[in-house]
Amino acid sequence: MISFILNGTSVDVDVSLDTPLLWVMRDHLKLKGTKFGCGMGLCGACSMIVDGVSTRTCILPVASVANKNVTTIEGLGKPQMLSTLQQAWVDNSVPQCGYCQSGQLISASALLNSNPNPSDAQIDDAMSGNICRCGTYPNIKKAIKAAATNQVGVQTFDPSESTSGVVA
Ligand code: FES
Ligand code: FES
Repeated sequence: MISFILNGTSVDVDVSLDTPLLWVMRDHLKLKGTKFGCGMGLCGACSMIVDGVSTRTCILPVASVANKNVTTIEGLGKPQMLSTLQQAWVDNSVPQCGYCQSGQLISASALLNSNPNPSDAQIDDAMSGNICRCGTYPNIKKAIKAAATNQVGVQTFDPSESTSGVVA
């Protein structure tokens, strides 16, 4: 059994402690927004925010997040209430095939949470581990800058909606 905070909600999951967090999320907690790409920590498709840091979860044992805060793409906003960053993504027509975009949004969110007004170089550095085969990099940068200009918090999860749960 392992416990952590998922998108503002305390969860307990009964899994082997060496199970990668990505598979705990997709297979046990049924949150499918985070994608599997390389499985080797190289592409960023599986990124989640762990205690403020964009983290590759395909190679992260779930034991590593015990009692930590984990944010997935589902925790950034809701379809009817997009975060400012997500709205900037829409406004700048960022996604192409979309496969990498969950990870891109997570890394961009982590960046803006720690640095609300990043320079071009800081954006490049923060986003360098997130690969996009469709080449959406220019529009990703535009969207991050637009969200930064709007000076908005990038995580809109409402803790008042939180509940606790045990998931096997
Ligand atoms: S799937 Fe985790 S970094 Fe590629
Ligand atoms: S939008 Fe297709 S891989 Fe990034």
